[in-house]
Amino acid sequence: MKLINYGKQYIDNSDRKNVLKVLEKSKITQGEEVLKFEKNLKKYFKSKYCVAVSSGSAALHLVAKAFNWKKNDKIICSPITFISAINAIIHVGAKPLFVDINLYDYSLDLDLVEQKLKKDKKIKAMIVTDYAGQPSDWLRINKLKKKYNIQLVNDNCHAIGSKINNDQGYAVKFSDAVCLSFHPVKAITTGEGGAILTNNMQIYQNSSVNRSHGIIRYPKNNKKFNGYYEVKELGYNYRITDFQCALGSSQLKKISKFINRRNIIAKKYDEFFSKYKIFKIPPRKENYFNSYHLYPLLIDFKKTKLDRRKLFKSFLKLKIILQVHYVPVNTQPLYKEIVKFKKNEFKSTIYFYKKEVSLPIYYELTNKEVQFIINQFKKVFKLK
Ligand SMILES: Cc1ncc(COP(=O)(O)O)c(C=O)c1O
Repeated sequence: MKLINYGKQYIDNSDRKNVLKVLEKSKITQGEEVLKFEKNLKKYFKSKYCVAVSSGSAALHLVAKAFNWKKNDKIICSPITFISAINAIIHVGAKPLFVDINLYDYSLDLDLVEQKLKKDKKIKAMIVTDYAGQPSDWLRINKLKKKYNIQLVNDNCHAIGSKINNDQGYAVKFSDAVCLSFHPVKAITTGEGGAILTNNMQIYQNSSVNRSHGIIRYPKNNKKFNGYYEVKELGYNYRITDFQCALGSSQLKKISKFINRRNIIAKKYDEFFSKYKIFKIPPRKENYFNSYHLYPLLIDFKKTKLDRRKLFKSFLKLKIILQVHYVPVNTQPLYKEIVKFKKNEFKSTIYFYKKEVSLPIYYELTNKEVQFIINQFKKVFKLK
């Protein structure tokens, strides 16, 4: 049996051909493939603007900078997410304001969010993660945006291709900026890579300039010389190469195929795990389409003779890697130092963390392998 990870890319011959073609070109970075990929992403996600960058983390950092968040600005975020969103807030000198998750879709608890928004005028924005591929309650989040005049960022790194009311443009529609990641475990890949999608011209212009050192290039016929440029902002090198973008465009053509397979696998897991009280399967929300970046299963270990360490060990023996998404950010040593957390502030987060196990889910995972995983669960938990 080959190694089964919780996620994995799928690369075919057309992907290889497209990448190789670009490698023959004179420009392998800052060329037309980047523009083409941006155009394809704009079309797919129904976005006015797009900036393709070197990673999802770079996208989040550039957005935080474009919003001009700074000292004393508080930005609401979730402890159950990848650290990049939190780092983006801290990198620009603003303060992360962690809010507990809800135990339905594992995104932010919006009642708690509203309590904070009512009391604290320093809250400038919210970064919402569409955890595991499940879109958050964006209709309610949008109402909060209007009522409390806050900026919204959708950390959509898990949810590429998810939909609300059959619309994959929901992420751009309901937030001010959307950040994507094309890491190999994500729905589509460019190796490393990411993108910002937005309908806001200022966010677009600022992010695209800061993607490349803050350099503004002047037109060819400017009064000084061809190639003259000026720097007015402290930027970064967050560029993505043309061959990565060629891979991205090629992968984007297959996105429905990739996500539909993930949905079939999720259904097989649902059918099995929903039969037993010790498991809680991810929610299925009406009119929401989940791209299933992850399949987060909650296991009531207290009602079993097994703990998570033993479970992982038994799977590892079979070359199956289970994962936990995530070790809560508020329990990490670095953030404990930066933010003074109150005791028992994140009850749902901790409850979720103790139970969560991410099962393998990716395009190439075969029905036989899914059954093998299910059989192993049957065996270790002694299920019928
Ligand atoms: C929710 C979330 N945000 C941000 C990122 C960062 O993306 P990248 O790895 O492309 O920097 C990830 C990647 O794992 C993620 O899962």
